[in-house]
Amino acid sequence: MNDASPISLLLIEDEDIVALYLQELLEESGRFNLLRASSLQEGLLYDQQKSPNVILLDLGLPDSTGLDTLHALLNNHTSAAIIIMTGTADEELASAALQQGAQDYLVKGQSDNTLIIKSIHYALERKQFHDQLQQSHRQMLQSEKMASIGQLAAGVAHEINNPMGFITSNLHTLHKYTQRLSDFLAQQSKALASHPDRELLDRLNSERKRLKIDYINKDLEELINESLSGAQRVIKIVENLRSFSRTDQHTFAEADLNTIIADTVKIIWNELKYKCTLHQELEDLPLVPCYPHQLGQVFMNLLLNAAQAIEQQGDITVKTFTDLDQVRITITDTGAGIAPEAICKIFDPFFTTKPPGRGTGLGLSIVYDIITNKHHGTIDVVSEVGVGTTFTITLPIHQEESHE
Ligand SMILES: Nc1ncnc2c1ncn2[C@@H]1O[C@H](COP(=O)(O)OP(=O)(O)OP(=O)(O)O)[C@@H](O)[C@H]1O
Ligand SMILES: [Mg+2]
Repeated sequence: MNDASPISLLLIEDEDIVALYLQELLEESGRFNLLRASSLQEGLLYDQQKSPNVILLDLGLPDSTGLDTLHALLNNHTSAAIIIMTGTADEELASAALQQGAQDYLVKGQSDNTLIIKSIHYALERKQFHDQLQQSHRQMLQSEKMASIGQLAAGVAHEINNPMGFITSNLHTLHKYTQRLSDFLAQQSKALASHPDRELLDRLNSERKRLKIDYINKDLEELINESLSGAQRVIKIVENLRSFSRTDQHTFAEADLNTIIADTVKIIWNELKYKCTLHQELEDLPLVPCYPHQLGQVFMNLLLNAAQAIEQQGDITVKTFTDLDQVRITITDTGAGIAPEAICKIFDPFFTTKPPGRGTGLGLSIVYDIITNKHHGTIDVVSEVGVGTTFTITLPIHQEESHE
């Protein structure tokens, strides 16, 4: 909101005289889009539908009184700055309201035109400052979490990598050996079938049955294949963990994000083509200094998540455009959506809602690290269960190589 744009203001006040007085006063200034509610329920509804910038709130309403009125509005996840209007100069109530999330308070009948307008502007500034503080606090917590998991991940990945190398290589050799043994057994059985000593043959056959040699022969192949695919999964997890380690940065260069997106789509096309129609609305973009390989991984993780969120058939839309000195990339899917209680956890390492063995829960934490720490950008998510999800990435067009 810039200085010239009108401020949308919701007045929640049941007394018509007070409401009319305030409405006249605010309309006179010509700076406000006004909306009035005369009960809490009506106020909550307008707040959700119109997302006003400011709410002037009378605490004594027909359906709620005192601080409960403020709490109901805060629980409504309002994004507005709240100014309390108290009937009398109730300092205690006012100070409790300020402590609990209101930006200011006015005493009805004691505030003149200039004071009210001033209070609205200050409340807006205070609210903006408060939101920024909260946002950077959240980012700090997230970065701290990422830094410690990064160190741990790099160490663990290093330790696991070597043994995984020989486990996989040994499993391949074992596979080859068991195939040879089983071929040899087959030939031996054939040769023995014509052996004249029937007693020896019977003994061998009953031993073969007792020891379940035929069953073992068949099961060996399956056991080894399962172990190989398990090993493959561990290797994938290790690869993901290594993405956290600072040594895996690759080269910093100016790149066209649309090309990176197109290349990524080619790599994972097999995973997408049966599930979704892919719409690409890619506007011409300036070259962006970045780690192209890492951004490729970001798009890959987001596109795979989008495809995995679609149960049968759906749409994925990728848009890119320039916005002042930033580029924006949005990835929208028509998948299952994310439950409100899960949304604050999706960037946490190891958070997954996928069945055991399907997701490591590292995809989005890698995305978060690459976008915010390595590229000084931001990533936001908006989602509705049953409707779909949009991830928005914003990257600055001008930036220095990150040495984090
Ligand atoms: N587009 C999306 N739609 C719905 N849910 C999503 C979407 N993207 C992420 N999620 C949710 O966030 C969780 C974490 O995602 P993340 O990519 O970090 O891990 P994962 O996909 O579960 O595992 P991995 O990426 O390691 O295979 C997912 O399990 C899923 O619940
Ligand atoms: Mg994922």
